[in-house]
Amino acid sequence: MCSLPRADDYHSFEREIDKWRVRRKDSKERKSYDEVFDQQNLMRVYKLFTDGTIDRLDFPISTGKEGNVFRATNTKGEFLAVKIYRTSTSTFRDMAKYVHGDPRFGGAQYNKRKLILAWAHKEYWNLQLLYQAGVRVPKPVARHQNIIVMEYIGDEVEPARELRDVLLDDPEAVSKKILAYIKLAYRKAKLVHSDISEFNVLMLGQEPVIIDVGQAVMLAHPYAEEWLERDVRNVARYFRKYKIDIDVAKELKEIRKA
Ligand SMILES: Nc1ncnc2c1ncn2[C@@H]1O[C@H](COP(=O)(O)OP(=O)(O)O)[C@@H](O)[C@H]1O
Ligand SMILES: [Mg+2]
Repeated sequence: MCSLPRADDYHSFEREIDKWRVRRKDSKERKSYDEVFDQQNLMRVYKLFTDGTIDRLDFPISTGKEGNVFRATNTKGEFLAVKIYRTSTSTFRDMAKYVHGDPRFGGAQYNKRKLILAWAHKEYWNLQLLYQAGVRVPKPVARHQNIIVMEYIGDEVEPARELRDVLLDDPEAVSKKILAYIKLAYRKAKLVHSDISEFNVLMLGQEPVIIDVGQAVMLAHPYAEEWLERDVRNVARYFRKYKIDIDVAKELKEIRKA
């Protein structure tokens, strides 16, 4: 149960969000703001304001299938990224196969609402495991229900670009770093990302940062090995455009070696 905020505070918060929506009402993204800022999510974001995690939501960075990512600022003036999962999503079926089969979720079958909470929980948990293992991911800051707060990857001017939008100075070095992170995730965090692609690697300058870890699974997951191979193949496929030849079998052997 959410505890109810004081009515005055809550109404002024709602007015802030409304002003912000109106400012952006011409944009095609308006519909998804309305979806993501349903009453329940407003309450949950409000909790993050009142507990001091964030001081303001600045602007949306991305509107995805399952949720939106916003830049936020805390009271110290530091930037944060806030990922809010929509409480209703059309990709529910795809999500299920990454949660079922993960021993952390005890093989339980979830209804849609619970699955989305489990998903956000899993993403935050994965972020913590990967961060502790030394994989370059956004540092986890907080999670409240379906909302994840993490380190903002970007600079004063703009969020970091996805790998696909950046022309690399030294593509070989970047490909090696990504493969090293896959290996570290596998060997130290015991996780397979399962969706490594040029969309889920951000470039902070020339440094790759791995994001979108909700679907990462533990090695005990029945598809973990298959998805590891898919991740390595994806890296090899992408770097072919830079004429870099990655030996997938060799890399896999290296990652898995005892
Ligand atoms: N921590 C972050 N800092 C800056 N931008 C981010 C951060 N996390 C996500 N983004 C931006 O939001 C986009 C979508 O985030 P992602 O986690 O990949 O969600 P999804 O692909 O499920 O919508 C990313 O491609 C990136 O541009
Ligand atoms: Mg993504």
